[in-house]
Amino acid sequence: MNTPIGSRYPAFLRHTHWITFVLVLLAYITINARKFLERGSAERLFAVESHFLLGMLVLLITVPRIVVRLRHAAPPIVPEPGVASRLAAWTAHLALFVFLVVQPVLGIASRLLSGRGIGLPLTEWAIPSVGAAQPELAESLEHLHEFVGEAFYYVIGIHILAALWHWLGRRDNALQRML
Ligand code: HEM
Ligand code: HEM
Repeated sequence: MNTPIGSRYPAFLRHTHWITFVLVLLAYITINARKFLERGSAERLFAVESHFLLGMLVLLITVPRIVVRLRHAAPPIVPEPGVASRLAAWTAHLALFVFLVVQPVLGIASRLLSGRGIGLPLTEWAIPSVGAAQPELAESLEHLHEFVGEAFYYVIGIHILAALWHWLGRRDNALQRML
């Protein structure tokens, strides 16, 4: 693979990165917003169901993104970072990709196993649960989903700080490759 110096990630990978950023941000905002809305209100239902939809869209985008990513090496960072820095970035990006798949899957599985299905915002439609409900398993998966969601505030925060450090501290082209 011949990647010219100063090149960016392919357009599909750049676009899906930023669309995912917006979807994840909104998924966090909607699920936190529900705490300020009255239980049983239409507003709260809208917030929670929007959370489901946003999260499912993340999964839908991430699967083809990973397929495309596996066919393209990342464009080089100039000047090249040291081994430790490259290893840290590789680990963080792998963790983020795993999160973008596992987190929605946990949410979807917990709802479907709870027997409540996945309601879609502003409609009467819901993705129905099939088979017998397994409330205990559903609850465990929901707790795991909440734990992973909390943990990734830190991982995403570090990822953003690392991007800022490359841009303003190290002054390399790491961020420009994703713009
Ligand atoms: C990248 C996607 C997602 C992220 C980042 C995410 C994040 C979170 C977080 C942080 C919480 C805990 C909020 C709190 O208690 O403070 C949560 C709760 C929850 N999420 Fe997700 N989620 C995602 C996708 C999904 C999907 C696709 C579904 C289901 C279709 C889902 C279903 C749920 C449910 C049922 C809860 C518990 C809500 C409640 O207690 O009322 N999530 N999510
Ligand atoms: C202000 C917010 C963000 C900024 C400035 C940012 C910046 C960047 C940059 C510069 C890269 C390229 C890193 C490199 O190749 O060394 C990158 C990659 C990546 N980012 Fe972000 N990011 C942000 C938010 C997010 C969010 C919210 C997620 C997901 C939760 C995310 C997931 C990823 C993943 C998985 C990669 C690896 C991409 C690949 O190898 O194809 N980013 N990000």
